[in-house]
Amino acid sequence: CDCHDKTVLFFGCHLLAFINAPVSESNSSVRSIYIISNDWELFFTGEPCSMVVTWTTFSKTESKVEYSLLGGRLFEMTAKGDATLFVDSGKEKRRMYIHRVTLTGLKPAAAYAYHCGSDDGWSDVFSFTALNNNTSFSPRFALYGDLGNENPQSLARLQKETQLGMYDVILHIGDFAYDMHEDNARIGDEFMRQIQSIAAYVPYMTCPGNHESTYNFSNYRNRFSMPGQTESLWYSWNLGSAHIISLSTEVYFYLEFGQELLFKQYNWLKKDLEEANKPENRAVRPWIITMGHRPMYCSDDDQDDCTKFDSYVTPGLEDLFYNYGVDLELWAHEHTYERLWPVYGDMVYNGSKEQPYVNPKAPIHIITGSAGCREKTDRFNPNPKEWSAFRSTDYGYTRMQVVNTTHVYLEQVSDDQYGKVIDSIWVVKEKHGFSAWF
Ligand SMILES: [Fe+2]
Repeated sequence: CDCHDKTVLFFGCHLLAFINAPVSESNSSVRSIYIISNDWELFFTGEPCSMVVTWTTFSKTESKVEYSLLGGRLFEMTAKGDATLFVDSGKEKRRMYIHRVTLTGLKPAAAYAYHCGSDDGWSDVFSFTALNNNTSFSPRFALYGDLGNENPQSLARLQKETQLGMYDVILHIGDFAYDMHEDNARIGDEFMRQIQSIAAYVPYMTCPGNHESTYNFSNYRNRFSMPGQTESLWYSWNLGSAHIISLSTEVYFYLEFGQELLFKQYNWLKKDLEEANKPENRAVRPWIITMGHRPMYCSDDDQDDCTKFDSYVTPGLEDLFYNYGVDLELWAHEHTYERLWPVYGDMVYNGSKEQPYVNPKAPIHIITGSAGCREKTDRFNPNPKEWSAFRSTDYGYTRMQVVNTTHVYLEQVSDDQYGKVIDSIWVVKEKHGFSAWF
């Protein structure tokens, strides 16, 4: 497929029945499913959505998804795809087949039942709702970074809330499993099984973090199925009144994997932002939201890049995002939650003293990397700069709803406090784009 035009969401699902069965050459073991959705071009033509299902087997098998409208005759439709061989770079050189199947012609907002696999073995039955392709849709997101295989404290709450239908999409802003390559990539397998109870039901969108860097991000690039032709490293997609850009901050830190990646991504970002800012596009999708792993700003007491005024990411991206009127920037990496006042060049640009987030004069940054991992949470520096608006060291995650073209709602959930909402803001913008800053 020409994935450049695709908005790819992904689903993870892992089948305990197969995982617990002995794995032999003839015994297919379905490990995880990812689903991709919504060709943004199809939004404009009004054509139905698509989804991609991704999963893993240890032997070479066919790639099939059988599906049907929920409540209809089960599995009346079949879609076929193919599998690529992923050989882990660890000592054991473990081999696995990553299957990808695209479902097309889905009815927006309709619920489907599906399973994946082949006649050598099928997954459990899962369900998902095809994303609504209407620009007046108000999608609800859960977002977080830094969720590990060990100590994934927020996971149970996220599983339950996803299954209760509270989210349309999950954004995982880098750092998975800690680390996917460990134990010859078995930690990666196990992590995919852990998130199946979320990712088999709603699209699971990702960007890479530093914990994915081993063997040149090979576990990340192979296991996930994001839009575009960059092996999930950077891409953009549309949902409701938002244009969402996912990027790799890691191109600024792992120059040994190719300095040209940094320029490639930058040029792509510029082009993508230009396109999103065309009046006809910004009129229907005025919110431009970015997600990347390492923040430009943070007030943690570690020596991370974001604690310094001139972090590597800031000169690389801050002007670009400001000049193209990016509204909201989502980050992780710091194992804390921090909300910033509208900020540019280390200076605060509130909308007004009384209503800082009503017509803000600079982008708004949210750092949410406390989902839970073996490195525990971080600590804050006792004297944050002026741009720091709210901070918490509780484990937790963020909820976001892009309500309409003028309103976005964000709130922070503390898992330590049993799901209590400890922070919330409404961002209100009557105008978007560079001219909105003045
Ligand atoms: Fe990180």
